[in-house]
Amino acid sequence: SGFPSLLRNGLSKLGFPREILELVFNWVDGNEDYLKIPEAKGSISAIRSEAFFIPLYELYLTYGGIFRLSFGPKSFLIVSDPSIAKHILRDNSKAYSKGILAEILDFVMGKGLIPADGEIWRVRRRAIVPALHQKYVSAMIGLFGQATDRLCKKLDVAASDGEDVEMESLFSRLTLDIIGKAVFNYDFDSLTNDTGIVEAVYTVLREAEDRSVAPIPIWEIPIWKDISPRQRKVKEALKLINDTLDDLIAICKKMVDEEELQFHEEYVNEKDPSILHFLLASGDDVSSKQLRDDLMTMLIAGHETSAAVLTWTFYLLSKEPSVVSKLQDEVDSVLGDRFPTIEDMKKLKYTTRVINESLRLYPQPPVLIRRSLEDDMLGKGEDFFISVWNLHHSPHLWEDAEKFNPERWPLHGPTPNETNQNFRYLPFGGGPRKCVGDMFASFENVVAVAMLVRRFNFQMALGAPPVEMTTGATIHTTQGLKMTVTRRMKPPIMPVLNTLETTILLDQKNE
Ligand code: HEM
Repeated sequence: SGFPSLLRNGLSKLGFPREILELVFNWVDGNEDYLKIPEAKGSISAIRSEAFFIPLYELYLTYGGIFRLSFGPKSFLIVSDPSIAKHILRDNSKAYSKGILAEILDFVMGKGLIPADGEIWRVRRRAIVPALHQKYVSAMIGLFGQATDRLCKKLDVAASDGEDVEMESLFSRLTLDIIGKAVFNYDFDSLTNDTGIVEAVYTVLREAEDRSVAPIPIWEIPIWKDISPRQRKVKEALKLINDTLDDLIAICKKMVDEEELQFHEEYVNEKDPSILHFLLASGDDVSSKQLRDDLMTMLIAGHETSAAVLTWTFYLLSKEPSVVSKLQDEVDSVLGDRFPTIEDMKKLKYTTRVINESLRLYPQPPVLIRRSLEDDMLGKGEDFFISVWNLHHSPHLWEDAEKFNPERWPLHGPTPNETNQNFRYLPFGGGPRKCVGDMFASFENVVAVAMLVRRFNFQMALGAPPVEMTTGATIHTTQGLKMTVTRRMKPPIMPVLNTLETTILLDQKNE
C-alpha cells in the first residue's frame, strides 16, 4: 500500500509486463513471506552484491542437504547432498531441464549445447563430443604452450620493469586466445591487441553474467530493451560476433571443400584443427543457426571457466609457498626448458593435483541449475540449484575442507572425478550433461600453470586490494588479482674453482 501501490499502478499503465511487476512488488511488500523455509534474513541486495553462494553455504550448515528458499513468488530448492545431486544429474537426468539457465542465456547461446534440452541436445551432443577426440586434444597441447609462451613474454617485460600485473584479466585473455583458435580457428590475439571483437566478446559475457544474477529481467521490459544504451550495445556486440562467426564459417567451409576429405573418427585437419573444421567436415549444416549457437556456447564455456580456474589457482599458490616449491620441482624435472607435450600430461601428476584441488575450493560454476520436468522427488516445475560450492566445502564430506591441500589426492591414486568421489566432487558436473571439454580444460590449465611457475615466482603485490569473490557464471575477484612477478632464479651452476681463482674473480668483480 501507499507509495509502492501508486508506483505499481503507474508502471502498469506505462505498459510494464504484469509478471515483472508482480515479481518486484511481491518482494517489496511480501516481506513477512520472504524466504519462508528456511527463514534467511537479509535483503536481495545483500545476496546480489556478495557472492550469492556464500549465504547458501550458511543456510546449508543450518538446514542440511536440501532446503527451499523462497522470494515472493519465486522458490528454489538448494541441493548440497551428493546422493541427491547424483539422482538429479545422473540417475534420473531425463526428468530435468536447464530451466532458468536456458532462459537467461537464450540471447547469446540460443539452443547451444549448454542450454539445449531434449532432442536438440541429444542430436548436438552426438555431433560435438566426437570433435574433442584424443588426437584433437593432443594437437591442442601445442596451442596451449604457444599461447602461454606469449603470456610469459608479457610477464617477462613486467618483471624487468618491476611493474605489478593484474593476473585475472591476463588469464581471461590467455584463455580467450586459446578457445578462439581451438573452437573456430580465430586468433583473437587479445594478449597483445584490443580489437573491437575482443571488446564485443566481453560486452556479451558481462551481460550474460549480469543477467544470471539479476533479480529482475529488465532486459525483457518492452520499450526499455530497445532504448537502453546498454541493451543496444549488447545487440551491436552480438551482431559483430555473429558476422565474424559467419566469416569464419565461410572460410572454413571453403577449406573443407578444397581438401581431399577422408573423414574418420580421429579426423584432424593439420592446418586448422578447430572444432568447427571437424563439424563441417563431418557434414554439419553451415547455414544453421544451431551451428552458430554451439560455437558461441563453446566459446563462452571454455573461456571464463578456465580463466577463473587459473586465477584462483594462482591466488591459492600465493598463500602456500611449499606447494609452489613442490610444483616447481616437478615441472623442472619433467619439462626442463621444453614445451609440454601430451606425454607430459601423465607425468605432471602434482601439477594436476594442484588443479584438482583448486577446482574443489573454487568450482566453476559454483552452482548447477536444473528444473524438474515431471514429478520426481518433488513436484514438476521446481527450480533446483545444485550447490557444487557446498558439496566441495562441506565439513561433513571433507577433512579440513577449507584447506588448500593438493596432497589430499594421492599421486599414485586416480585423478579425482565425480564417479570415483561419488558425487561429492563435481568439477565438471556429472551424468549425461557432463562437460565435454573436461580433458581439454584440464590439460590447458596444467600447461599454463607448469609453464608459468617454471619461469616466474608470483607474490601478492604490496598494497594489492584484498582478494574477494563475486559471481557471474564463474567466481571472479572483486578487484582483480594484483601480483608481483619475478623471474625465477635457478641455483646457478658454479664452476669448480680453487680458492685463489675465486678470490681473483671476486676481486675483479668488485673493481
Ligand atoms: C558443461 C565446467 C571447460 C564445454 C559443463 C558443466 C560444468 C563445466 C560444471 C556442467 C554444467 C551443468 O551440468 O549444468 C567446466 C570447467 C571448465 C570447462 C570448470 C574449465 C576448467 C570447457 C571447455 C569447453 C566446455 C574448454 C569446450 C571446449 C562445455 C559444454 C558443456 C559443458 C559444451 C555442456 C554439455 C552438455 O550439456 O551436454 N562444463 N567446463 N567446457 N562444458 Fe565445460
